[in-house]
Amino acid sequence: MMSKKLSFSLFSLLLVAVMILSACGTAATPVPATKAASSQVEIFSWWVGPGEADGLAAMIKIFDAKYPQYTIVNAAVAGGAGTNAKAVLATRLQAGDPPDSWQAHAGQETIANYVTAGQVKPLDDFYNSTGFASVLPKTLIPLISKDGHPYSVPVNIHRSNVMWYNPKVLSAAGVTIPTGGFASWTDFFAACDKIKAAGKTCLSLGPEGFTAMHLFENVMIGTIGADKWTGLWTTPPTTDWTGADVQAGIANYAQVLTYTNSDASTLSDWQPASKMVADGDAAFNIMGDWAYGYFANAAPNGLALTPHTDFDWTPTPGTQGIFVFLSDSFVLPVGNKNPDGTMAWLTVAASKEGQEAFNPLKGSICARTDCDPSKFSEYSQDAMKDWTSETVVGSLTHGVVAAPAWQTKIDTALKLFLTDTSKTADFQTALAAACKSDGTCK
Ligand code: GAL
Repeated sequence: MMSKKLSFSLFSLLLVAVMILSACGTAATPVPATKAASSQVEIFSWWVGPGEADGLAAMIKIFDAKYPQYTIVNAAVAGGAGTNAKAVLATRLQAGDPPDSWQAHAGQETIANYVTAGQVKPLDDFYNSTGFASVLPKTLIPLISKDGHPYSVPVNIHRSNVMWYNPKVLSAAGVTIPTGGFASWTDFFAACDKIKAAGKTCLSLGPEGFTAMHLFENVMIGTIGADKWTGLWTTPPTTDWTGADVQAGIANYAQVLTYTNSDASTLSDWQPASKMVADGDAAFNIMGDWAYGYFANAAPNGLALTPHTDFDWTPTPGTQGIFVFLSDSFVLPVGNKNPDGTMAWLTVAASKEGQEAFNPLKGSICARTDCDPSKFSEYSQDAMKDWTSETVVGSLTHGVVAAPAWQTKIDTALKLFLTDTSKTADFQTALAAACKSDGTCK
């Protein structure tokens, strides 16, 4: 029999151990007790929701098979386009607690943010030893590089300017999409009038978090065209933020909002808005091609819908021949716990096998140029062709064209505009001011 004193100290020890364990137990994936702490590789992203998680899970599976000495801690934070994840990451970086790698958009989000702040390391050795640059599109490399040094590993190319639709809702309302898509927003509005008359929402929209800006960039590009869109982001801009082009884009945006669901702000994320199309409550939804994964993937993460019958797609109005792109990539942090584990993760993220597992489920195409098209859906095979044949422009919402601080100012102006869409002139003034505050506009 144990003495009272001994059993009390054992109990106290147990209590302390339980307290320590529960304080550490915030990771999304429990780490088996048999692995040492240095074997953990914490991967931070926002791929947790329906249609988002499948691709990441497939890449983690490959990692697990190749690197059994490591355990991935999946630190994904829910919220489309990183609405919540980016804030959590910023807090962690400020506290000197970086994950072992995190999701970062190619373009200004990576360069003007993480690279400029000195939060990530250059990957010259990795690129040199693997020859990774030789299988990447030449246009992508400058978007992840500073002073000739690459800073991240792109895993995919997503398209922002896709309009998903329910063919049954369209045919019931007598709407036919012209070959190649609606040539203009005006044509689209005429179709919306018919859909409205048939008692359906024309265009479903999600909450303000990012879906309103996602719609805004598509309306602006479809109104002013690829060159003028790109001209908004050059230094100095060659497209006047105070001019008639931007004014016309804002007017179209105000009009398109009149065709959206009134409960947009109450939806939890982009998926419920896309689901309105799947359920036949709305005719159209504008969302990046991660929505393809949501529509087509097997349950429980996907809706397991049949392309062309249950859902279909067309370029957003006015953007035929334009590919609005974004690219997800992963970084090597400064001061993380497991740099070797990070390199193992980046090796999988860069590999043909990793990208061929991840992208077909994610709705994106490989960042690599040598993936096997037969592993992809018909939608993605078309996207592969369009990526190399169409005019490519960068997404604002998903980190390509504007520094995060500038994007935040645009977001603030946009949210204010959504409270009163008659204030088009004020919105344009605020957009011009945002450009000035970035220093791009004089
Ligand atoms: C984008 C990201 C995509 C997808 C989407 C919706 O910013 O690049 O991979 O996750 O957000 O959450």
